[in-house]
Order: sequence, then C-alpha cells, then structure tokens
Amino acid sequence: MPEIKKTKKAEKKVVSVSPIPGVEKAKKTYNVLRGMHDILPREEKYWKQLYHAAENLSEYFQFSRIETPLLEEVNLFVRSVGKGTDIVDKEMYIFEDKDGARVALRPEATASVARAYIGNGMWNMSQPVKLWYWGPMFRHDRPQAGRYREFFQVGYETLGVKDPATDVELILIAFNFYKELGLPVEIHINSIGTPAERERYINELVSYYRSKRSYLCEDCRNRISKNPLRLLDCKVEGCQPVKEGAPQIVDWLDEESKNYFMKVLEYLDELAIPYVLTPTLVRGLDYYTHTVFEIYPTFGEPGSQSALGGGGRYDLLVEELGGKPAPAAGVALGIERTVHAMKQYAEENKIPAPEVKYDIFFAQLGDEAKRRALHIINDLRGTGIKIAFNFFKNSLKNQLEAANNLRVSYVIILGQKEVQDKSVIIRDMESGVQEIVDQKKLESILKKKLNRI
Ligand code: HAM
Repeated sequence: MPEIKKTKKAEKKVVSVSPIPGVEKAKKTYNVLRGMHDILPREEKYWKQLYHAAENLSEYFQFSRIETPLLEEVNLFVRSVGKGTDIVDKEMYIFEDKDGARVALRPEATASVARAYIGNGMWNMSQPVKLWYWGPMFRHDRPQAGRYREFFQVGYETLGVKDPATDVELILIAFNFYKELGLPVEIHINSIGTPAERERYINELVSYYRSKRSYLCEDCRNRISKNPLRLLDCKVEGCQPVKEGAPQIVDWLDEESKNYFMKVLEYLDELAIPYVLTPTLVRGLDYYTHTVFEIYPTFGEPGSQSALGGGGRYDLLVEELGGKPAPAAGVALGIERTVHAMKQYAEENKIPAPEVKYDIFFAQLGDEAKRRALHIINDLRGTGIKIAFNFFKNSLKNQLEAANNLRVSYVIILGQKEVQDKSVIIRDMESGVQEIVDQKKLESILKKKLNRI
C-alpha cells in the first residue's frame, strides 16, 4: 500500500484588523489583579444603601467631608502606622514616581487626615474638627474571604479634643451604621493607655512570654523581640493557654488612664451599646493611645468573623507628624466586609435583598410614542416620581410583564392614538382599571395617586 503522505496545509497568516489604527487586534484577555475586584451593577443596591447610611450619619453628627489623595509620601505611613506593623512592613504598595519621589498607595486614611489637618491649618479652626471620608485603601495582603488588596472604607475622625464623649460618639456612629443596615453587632473594646504605660506593660509581657517560650509557635517566638504586642493576636491553638495567662494591659494603666476608660464604658452602658471588654485587643497600627475598639457581627459562626470596623484614640499622631499637639480619635468601617455580612445575615434570616423601588412604569407603543415618551419622562424628572421604562421592549405584553416584575403600582401607556390626542392611559396594576388622562395633567394626577402632595 502506498504511503499516504500528509500534506502540510499552507499556514495562513491571519491578520486581524483592530478598530484602533496601527494597533494589531488584541487576543489576550485581561483579568482583574489578584486581590482586587470589580464592583458590579448587581452590588449597587448594597453600596448605595451603605453610602446613604454613612452620609446620613455624617450629617446628623456634623462631620464634614474630606477627600485626600490616594498617593502619599511613603514616610507618612511609616511614621504613623509604624515600622514593625504588618501594614508598613509587608502590605504597602510602594513605588517611585517619575520625579523619583517614593510614594505609597494609601493603606488607610487616618494618617492622611492628620496630615491634611496640619497642612491646612485646621488647628486654627474651632475644635474639634470632625471629618469623614469614603474611598479605596490598598494593602498587599494575602487575599482571602473578606480580605482584598483594594477595599473601601468609610471613616470618621474627630481631631482637637480629648473627651470620653468623643470616643463614644465615634462608637455610636459605627453602632448606628450597622443598626440602620439591620445588622446586629457588638463592640470589642480595650484601653492601651499612654506610651509610657504601654512600655512598662510590654516589659512585663516580654518577661512572661520568655518564661513560656518552649510552648510557643515559631511566629510568637519571633514576636517576643520584634513586636511583643502582636503576641496577643496569635490564633494558633497551642499558644492560647499562654495567652490566657498573660498580664493584662489595663492593670498597668495609671489612675488617670483608668478613669478615662471607665468613663467611656459608663457612656456605653448608658447608651445600651453592647460591648465586650477584650484585654487582648491592641490593634495593628502604632498610633493608638487609650481607647481602642473593633466592631464584630454577632451572627454567623462564632469566632469565624473578621472585624467589620475598628478605631480608637490617637492623641500623639498629629504632633508626631509635625503639627501642634492635637488629641484625636476615629473609626473606619470596611465596606466589602459589611456588604458580605449583609448578604450572609439576609441569607441566614431569609430577608429579601434590598431593591430599587419604582413608582410607575412607562410603556410606549411605536416610534412616535417612543419619542413623545422620552419628553414626558424627562419632564417628570425632578418631581420625585421614580419611573422605570424599557425602550427595547416593543410589545405591550412584554412591557406589562416588566412592570409586574418591578411591582410598580401604575403603568402609563402611550400608543399612537394617545400621541395624537395628547393623552396617556394610566393603568392601576392591582385592579387592572385604566383611565385616560390629559398629558398636561399627568404629573398632578400621579402625585395625587402616589400621595406625594
Ligand atoms: P483597620 O482596622 O486597619 O483600621 O481597618 C478598618 C476596617 O477596614 C477593618 O475592620 C476591615 O473591615 C477593613 N479592612 C481592613 N483591611 C482590609 C482588607 N484587606 N480587605 C477588606 N477590608 C479590610 C484602620 O484602617 C484605621 N485607619 C481605623 C481608624 C480610623 N482608626 C482611627 N481612625
């Protein structure tokens, strides 16, 4: 049998044409960077709800909005958040810009707010200065559930006063934020006193942990000399008995610091804000003094949840950054973690997802009606009547179906005849009753029907 020779097909060079002149059509698709994420339209209802709650609270408690740049000098964070913290040592996005300046994508905003307070002479204003922000932060952390490399925070900072009522006002804002979203939370709280008190405590902590060295995990052994306060954060099971017997910082506070903390707790009792005294809570940023706290959901698997938010007092930060001494305190809440908690809570309690509520649906039939409908819809803009419409569905049946899905009370129908008569049909979706009304009277009739007068 003759050998069948495989003929090699002539290789065709496919020249793909790009819509951009001079650029070969791209074949590669791009993924979002690891640890980053798109906030998609299906998430919008949650994000809107959170933003409204945050903004309402800022107005009620009289915080003014501040917007600081995403990029800052690296040293701003090194001096505030601190060398030896995970954020500064491991997680900052640092690079050199075109002028050779070493800049960082902000890992948090408290340092930026303190910088802005100093740089804009805000100490000259009537104190306290109360500022709030909402925006993305960047930490090159190991991504996992609830931990991203770009994430949003809403934060409230009160600069220029030291008063337990300030600390409590910030905790109250955080507590009300979650209350408004229907999420049950509790506050974990501690006082880490002044740097001098902390130093005395750290000496005690170090000698206690040195005496238990052989029971500790590798990380904890390193922490003894590198960052002893972080010993209290260890989650490794073998280290827990050692941690439970560790000295507690509150026992190393002097009278003044203790009294300050007691006052904070008294206020919380009075406001019936649920809190848990947590002697091991020290926070992962260096600028704190006195009160520190974190907010945790009280649902889901106990112990499995990460903090939804955290904050505390930072009386020395402004001075440390070169400003006139100005005691301060603040709180920041994680938006992604809050959205995740809302979904989890809704699922556990069978609560339907929040949805955008429309008042009416505008249905049109035919080209001329479509054109006229656009005018009417635009005229009704600003009246407070929320109108849904879909110009890509042409049959009345499909549009009524869409209206039904949106659960609107009324549908306005505009056909060829109505365009000529300058009228519209209003259909009551519950009773099915229809009435013809003059287009000019539409706004007032709708307002009456929707009780907007
Ligand atoms: P923080 O505890 O580092 O505090 O962050 C506050 C909240 O931001 C956390 O409780 C969490 O919800 C969220 N968060 C932190 N890291 C991530 C991440 N990698 N992925 C998703 N969410 C995250 C601060 O940032 C301080 N500036 C708070 C403050 C304000 N202290 C005084 N004023």
